Amino acid sequence: MDKIISLKNINKIYGTYIKTQVLFDINLDIEKSSFSSIIGQSGSGKSTLLNITGTLDKPTSGDIIIDEINTKNMNKNQLSELRNQKLGFIFQFHYLLPEFTAYENVLMPYLIKNKPLTDKQKERAYYLLDMVGLSKVKNNPASRMSGGQQQRTAIARALFNNPPIILADEPTGNLDSDSSKTVFDMMRDINKEYGTTFLVITHDRRIADKTDRIIEIKDGKINLDLKNGGAE
Ligand SMILES: Nc1ncnc2c1ncn2[C@@H]1O[C@H](COP(=O)(O)OP(=O)(O)OP(=O)(O)O)[C@@H](O)[C@H]1O
Ligand SMILES: [Mg+2]
Repeated sequence: MDKIISLKNINKIYGTYIKTQVLFDINLDIEKSSFSSIIGQSGSGKSTLLNITGTLDKPTSGDIIIDEINTKNMNKNQLSELRNQKLGFIFQFHYLLPEFTAYENVLMPYLIKNKPLTDKQKERAYYLLDMVGLSKVKNNPASRMSGGQQQRTAIARALFNNPPIILADEPTGNLDSDSSKTVFDMMRDINKEYGTTFLVITHDRRIADKTDRIIEIKDGKINLDLKNGGAE
């Protein structure tokens, strides 16, 4: 397997006085260009696992290897540089700034740097907004877009640096079933067209069934790991 993510013996314990172990010795390899889903009951440890995979949270013990780079001894700046190059994040709540347009939201990481935008950056933002089907509403403030449109804006933002990996935590969790399907299909298309690796938490079994691999977390352990032959 040509792996792009490798988790080795990941344990996570929260708390100093009252300790709660949330993840137990997780080992997981994710294949390059695959589309995997993580399912499991509320509180089973899915978000904790995804955040640790994305180096947003630290494990109590274990190794996270992203594209052959072991993140163990990296400092804050090195981790943020690694995330910048390798990872895009999509969350359940898209964290758009409501008073800014779709276009501005996609470029927000650059707008806050107080440097003028380059033409290349502007073109990339327009290109991505077009790709996620938002050309018509790109100048609407986020507060005047539908939930599905907002989530597609968040996807465009996550894709801005063309990351090889996208980590998504219930990206369709807030959407009705039609918009869910649109957003999921879009991620699937990006996966197929650009070979972007997707690791997506979902509680929607119909979505999980359309991915290459279903990983079920139960009580902080991998309970099931199914290669999904039925995936499109
Ligand atoms: N910062 C924290 N401090 C202490 N305990 C935490 C913290 N974050 C999560 N937990 C606990 O870890 C366990 C796993 O939480 P996690 O958010 O990973 O679950 P989840 O599978 O994503 O659930 P959901 O489907 O509800 O989002 C839960 O019991 C939760 O209470
Ligand atoms: Mg969660």
